[in-house]
Amino acid sequence: MERFSVVFAFCFSCLVISGALRGPPLQFATAFAMVDEEWLEPVDFPEWLEYVHSTSDPEPTILDGMAPTGSYLGAGLTLPDTDQHAEKSSPGNLFVTKREIVVDQLGTGDFRTIQAAVNAVTNNNQERVTIRIMPGLYSEKVRIPKDKPYITLLGYPNTTVIVFDSIASDVISTESNATLRTFGSATVAVESRFFFAINLIFKNSAPIPPPGSVGKQAVAFRISADMAAFYNCQFLGGQDTLYDHHGRHYFQNCYVEGTIDFIFGNGRSLYKNCILNALDNYGAPGSITAQKRNPRTLDTGFSFVDCYVTGTGQVYLGRAWGNYSRVIFARSYMDAVVVPVGWDDWGVKDRDRTAFYAEFNCSGPGAKRSGRAPWARVITAKKAKPFLSSVFINGRKWLPRDYRDLINFSCSSAACGASPEPSASPRGSPPKQSSFTPSEIRPSAGHDRVFSKFDWSKTVTVAVIAMILGFFM
Ligand SMILES: *[C@@H]1O[C@H](CO)[C@@H](O)[C@H](O)[C@H]1NC(C)=O
Ligand SMILES: *[C@@H]1O[C@H](CO)[C@@H](O)[C@H](O)[C@H]1NC(C)=O
Ligand SMILES: *[C@@H]1O[C@H](CO)[C@@H](O)[C@H](O)[C@H]1NC(C)=O
Ligand SMILES: *[C@@H]1O[C@H](CO)[C@@H](O)[C@H](O)[C@H]1NC(C)=O
Ligand SMILES: *[C@@H]1O[C@H](CO)[C@@H](O)[C@H](O)[C@H]1NC(C)=O
Repeated sequence: MERFSVVFAFCFSCLVISGALRGPPLQFATAFAMVDEEWLEPVDFPEWLEYVHSTSDPEPTILDGMAPTGSYLGAGLTLPDTDQHAEKSSPGNLFVTKREIVVDQLGTGDFRTIQAAVNAVTNNNQERVTIRIMPGLYSEKVRIPKDKPYITLLGYPNTTVIVFDSIASDVISTESNATLRTFGSATVAVESRFFFAINLIFKNSAPIPPPGSVGKQAVAFRISADMAAFYNCQFLGGQDTLYDHHGRHYFQNCYVEGTIDFIFGNGRSLYKNCILNALDNYGAPGSITAQKRNPRTLDTGFSFVDCYVTGTGQVYLGRAWGNYSRVIFARSYMDAVVVPVGWDDWGVKDRDRTAFYAEFNCSGPGAKRSGRAPWARVITAKKAKPFLSSVFINGRKWLPRDYRDLINFSCSSAACGASPEPSASPRGSPPKQSSFTPSEIRPSAGHDRVFSKFDWSKTVTVAVIAMILGFFM
């Protein structure tokens, strides 16, 4: 009998501990387990740099206060509620700008190119550095490597554009015939944590390839790091515009356009109040997403909340790139551009059972149920709840309550929303000092522990009680 009690207590404790370890599922960072090996292999950096320098256009191109396309941001959309976000925007240096670097291609700032400003950030930087980019069209490829975290790229609404035209099959080394691949085609690639982008237009200007083309993937932006947020940004391209590679990401009031798989990767991302614009894919249907979740234990997926699906081409909401591809559209409006069947299994029948494609409370002609793939589901409010707020990406810990907090460092420029007139922009005005009082919370106390938080004391207490109970039973 006594032996039985001990065994019982042991098993019960194991159950309690394993239960505590598992739930709540989204609170544990699998961000590092979700790394997508196949795509992580980096492009050789020196080769890549050489390529960039040999092809970039050194001539500055100043926009006349206009975006290069007729695209727009947030028209007719309401500002999202912010109640889900950090109650206090002050986890250490996460939000507080400690250093500002100004980029102006006309030479009145600290640097003429964005990459030069990035290079000027010290390695293993531990303070937020805001790189303010004056209006203009910057023809360069930009890469923010892993050892430069806490960078904010801050542009001016509708007028700061970073553009390049690499495609996957561009050869970067004639010796080995190495190519950029999709991974290296990005105009801007970010590999460091705690990255924010505000008011920027990222563009890959390579021509839209006809269906069936090989090696024409042209990424405008690749985010390959955990905890990144994008506000009022535009991602312009054709095939594979936005590489939402891995990590937790937040996109608010953003605009993404493209033809095939124009939001793809294995990220865990919330798209809030965004416009998804399906461009004409030579008459063939394209696809908004290609989410790559695999295996099933990964917490990745794309959630679109209060978004607006429109365009000029026919489009699937998603194609199952991974066996357990996961995409949710909630409270979104869909134009007639969405093909009736809605979702595609990438030609792998088994994925009909394993992919998680769901719609919740969507409206518009593209949201009609008739013709929808029977394996795609409509979910209840209860089932949708985990995907609707920034809880999905643990945003409470790392997102600002209001993104304007990020640019509110005695910043009187148009980038701060004071004036949308880029022509009246304060080009040449000296970089402003931060007016924030340094938070008493040290950075290491704030963010580093956030995702490894595990209440051992509680678990151990419960386990001990269980053991004692089991012993006396
Ligand atoms: C950006 O452009 C759109 C459309 O062209 C316009 O509605 C919006 O007001 C612009 N935003 C700013 C801040 O100028
Ligand atoms: C590179 O490609 C060229 C043309 O296709 C070919 O002739 C050459 O042998 C290749 N070089 C290597 C190292 O593969
Ligand atoms: C996806 O599922 C198929 C079975 O349908 C399996 O053969 C394949 O190995 C899986 N792929 C990966 C990457 O796990
Ligand atoms: C769906 O949205 C409408 C408003 O567009 C709202 O009135 C309704 O309650 C929502 N339904 C659910 C199930 O949340
Ligand atoms: C920005 O700072 C000003 C003055 O410090 C303050 O009144 C305003 O509420 C702040 N805005 C935001 C969005 O935090």
